[in-house]
Amino acid sequence: MSADQQTAVETGVETVVEVRKLLNTIDSVVLHRDLDFEVRAGEVMTLVGGSGSGKTQLVRVILGLKQPSAGIVRVFGVSWNDPNYRRVRAARERMGMLFQNGALYSAFTVYQNVAFPLRERGGLDEDAIRAIVFAKLAQVELEPAHADLLPANLSGGMVKRVSLARALALSPELLILDEPTAGLDPDRSDAFVRLIKRMRSEYQFAVLMVTHDLDTLHDLSDRVSVLADQHIIACGTIEEVRKVPHRFIENFFGGERGRRAFTSA
Ligand SMILES: Nc1ncnc2c1ncn2[C@@H]1O[C@H](COP(=O)(O)OP(=O)(O)O)[C@@H](O)[C@H]1O
Ligand SMILES: [Mg+2]
Repeated sequence: MSADQQTAVETGVETVVEVRKLLNTIDSVVLHRDLDFEVRAGEVMTLVGGSGSGKTQLVRVILGLKQPSAGIVRVFGVSWNDPNYRRVRAARERMGMLFQNGALYSAFTVYQNVAFPLRERGGLDEDAIRAIVFAKLAQVELEPAHADLLPANLSGGMVKRVSLARALALSPELLILDEPTAGLDPDRSDAFVRLIKRMRSEYQFAVLMVTHDLDTLHDLSDRVSVLADQHIIACGTIEEVRKVPHRFIENFFGGERGRRAFTSA
């Protein structure tokens, strides 16, 4: 047992995402250096940072879509380069991802999109798949009649909800959201945040969310991590993070929008 696992056992807190001393480069440009980051079971961890600071690239590393140059990346205790492919697959099936802009399969109907991860995992007949797909669509407040539509015929808010239904199809213990409310108007954005809150109170999954929207951050976060200068410069509750002296934090939380988001509660 490693020192980190021992700590998790002692404190009774399970770490679902663990990144230690990450070094990550693209075309020999260093994006992340000496970066530590974690998400604990059941919490909403929000990742903030300037545009181009490497938030999406960090998510790609955590998802196993990008191989880091050095460091430890474990999801549910499993490293993506674990030679045991069953373990890797099992860990992968415990997380759901909602990509920026939805990223639905454009040639697939709503039904086929939500069914996709269920078919990939296998072991379910069509009746069971159908039952899960329609249950997930109802949970994200879509009508059965929407099942046959193609993504091109959906509004922006509906694309997000179908993506959420697909991300939750396998009842994941970790949901990853990259800018989930980007491109939605304030009403739609509020509705989407309420939806995620309601789903979480039912299913208690952990969330790793990237957002620059202060209202979304304020409404959902248990803890916040701030990415700047290639690593996580602050991590804690909103109150703790706001006190950390750093230019990005002062601008982000201390501006007009920050004051509005944090004094209205
Ligand atoms: N495929 C790529 N090739 C080269 N550079 C990239 C690529 N994708 C992203 N980058 C660079 O990596 C940096 C971080 O990008 P990203 O993680 O998307 O930032 P953000 O924090 O806005 O999500 C940016 O400077 C971007 O230009
Ligand atoms: Mg991004």
